[in-house]
Amino acid sequence: MCGIVGYIGPKNAYPIIINGLKRLEYRGYDSAGIALIDKEISVFKKKGKVSDLEEFVSDKNTAGTIGIGHTRWATHGEPNDVNAHPHVSMKGEFVVIHNGIIENYSRLKKRLEDRGYVFQSETDTEVLANLIEYIYSFSNVSAEIAVRLALSKVIGAYGILVICRHEQDKIIAARKGSPLVIGIGEGEYFFASDATPIVEHTKSVIYLNDNDVAIVTKDELSLKTIHNVQVNPKVQKLSLDIGEIEKGGYDHFMLKEIFEQPKSILDTFRGRVALDRKSIHLGGLHDVFDRITHAKRIIIIGCGTSWHAGLVGEYLFEDLARIPVEVEYASEFRYRNPVIFPDDVIISISQSGETADTLAAIKLAKEAGALVLGVCNVVGSSIPRETHAGVYTHAGPEIGVASTKAFTAQVTVLAMMATSMGFKRGVLSQEDYEKLIEELYNIPPKIEEILSFNEEFKRIAELYKDATNFLYLGRGYLFPVALEGALKLKEISYIHAEGYPAAEMKHGPIALIDQHMPVVVIATKDKSYEKIVSNIQEVKARKGIVIAIVNKGDTIIRDLADHVLEIPESHEALAPLLTVVPLQLLSYYIAVFRGCNVDQPRNLAKSVTVE
Ligand code: AGP
Ligand code: GLU
Repeated sequence: MCGIVGYIGPKNAYPIIINGLKRLEYRGYDSAGIALIDKEISVFKKKGKVSDLEEFVSDKNTAGTIGIGHTRWATHGEPNDVNAHPHVSMKGEFVVIHNGIIENYSRLKKRLEDRGYVFQSETDTEVLANLIEYIYSFSNVSAEIAVRLALSKVIGAYGILVICRHEQDKIIAARKGSPLVIGIGEGEYFFASDATPIVEHTKSVIYLNDNDVAIVTKDELSLKTIHNVQVNPKVQKLSLDIGEIEKGGYDHFMLKEIFEQPKSILDTFRGRVALDRKSIHLGGLHDVFDRITHAKRIIIIGCGTSWHAGLVGEYLFEDLARIPVEVEYASEFRYRNPVIFPDDVIISISQSGETADTLAAIKLAKEAGALVLGVCNVVGSSIPRETHAGVYTHAGPEIGVASTKAFTAQVTVLAMMATSMGFKRGVLSQEDYEKLIEELYNIPPKIEEILSFNEEFKRIAELYKDATNFLYLGRGYLFPVALEGALKLKEISYIHAEGYPAAEMKHGPIALIDQHMPVVVIATKDKSYEKIVSNIQEVKARKGIVIAIVNKGDTIIRDLADHVLEIPESHEALAPLLTVVPLQLLSYYIAVFRGCNVDQPRNLAKSVTVE
């Protein structure tokens, strides 16, 4: 994870870098640091957030028109001042910031120690800084060559920015596995892990590819591979708007993003549904649509919330298109020697498009000859570039670490895919097809309605803010929603929570139920409704507290449950889009009442670019 930012140009680099780091803080907030060139290189770094760094440097000289900055999510070495980036090489010749992991760092470190190098930190990054310096002084080469040679010895992932004491006119940037974008201004360049720190300065950007090295002065950018082959930079225009990455009056990004869902879902399907609402066209799948509709098997891969969206996808593709589906954690899939057939279709799901495990699983599936699709939110990120075809979710930037609108946008895309494939395969009639499209159009106003009950979710959250455990139950399409509800609560409020298929409760978790255990049951009207009513009875018989998500006007569960949260009815296949919203709000308010940092929960980062 980690966020990296850099600037070279005529302006004072410090404010540009600090603001950029604040935009990237979602990527990690264990420590922050900055290096500025003003004849000499000054390095300031501090454990904690970017605001702690700002306070620390408030009485320091922050002049300089070239600089690099970092916000860290620790992988090697605990979060402290010494392990914070930037890392300075032993003799002070090079300063490096890094996002990623140098896997062979201990072997390289040992070799450098044998040659007299002494290390200050426990990080893998300092090894890279010293390796560059060692090659630079030993081989008497330029900074650029030293960086390229050092990188050719490195195994692992990196997005790095490097500055050199003897070549103060440039920043060297390189990427493999971790993202890096360069913004092109008038006589100035901006560097960042994603486009959010850049968009307020320029809309022209270059996304570095794996093995690219950019050597950038104020006036010139030269791009080559680490093997010194010149590369033509491909300049792209950002469509991101600055307003989209600010809080817009909400207390937290998470709340803003929950409330944006009517719009983000609309943005995701609008333009893909014909004006007469009788058909769906997914432009990104046009060339492969025939192949995917004839797939014998679909394998969906993802992590965390994206994996939960994949589980909803399993129900959708099997139910609406009758194609068998397996859903895999990307991290398990890649390491267990999976059986992949060339006629398999792999759908990788990722908000960030940068998740290291998902990317590695994609590479494995491609090697096996399968068709690999991406369902991603961040335009231009690694996964869309690595996959054969795909669909962007168009949810807009998601900054809160807990994923909300990205999940509903992912489910929307999967529902559109399954519906159009089901129709093409003859599983759905024209009438079913149009009905599902119509139902999709009804989702945004229904979410508006759910959001208008905000105060009710808040009231219940306050009642249970001190609970130590929560259970979430759902069946069918709503089982993945139960998992997602539990994940939301765990990650932002630090309350232990588990999601279960409601019928599994009697095979174990029922033992946990007593009068202190809130059980959130998603019990909207579908074919399992009667069964879930029985599951609620089972919880009540053990004195558990039932908070039920039900359809408007449900009187049966109202008589049984301690609390009911009413939502509008929908097509069963689209119910996850509605039922997840109360769970997002419940977690949000519980976390707020507990005084937790909602947007930046402890130990987490938004974009998990390490394994
Ligand atoms: C979601 O709330 C989590 N923060 C996390 O599980 C996330 O969904 C996971 O890391 C996958 O990220 P991605 O969608 O960017 O690949
Ligand atoms: N490996 C580096 C460190 O621990 C960078 C971590 C990262 O990118 O998440 O500091």
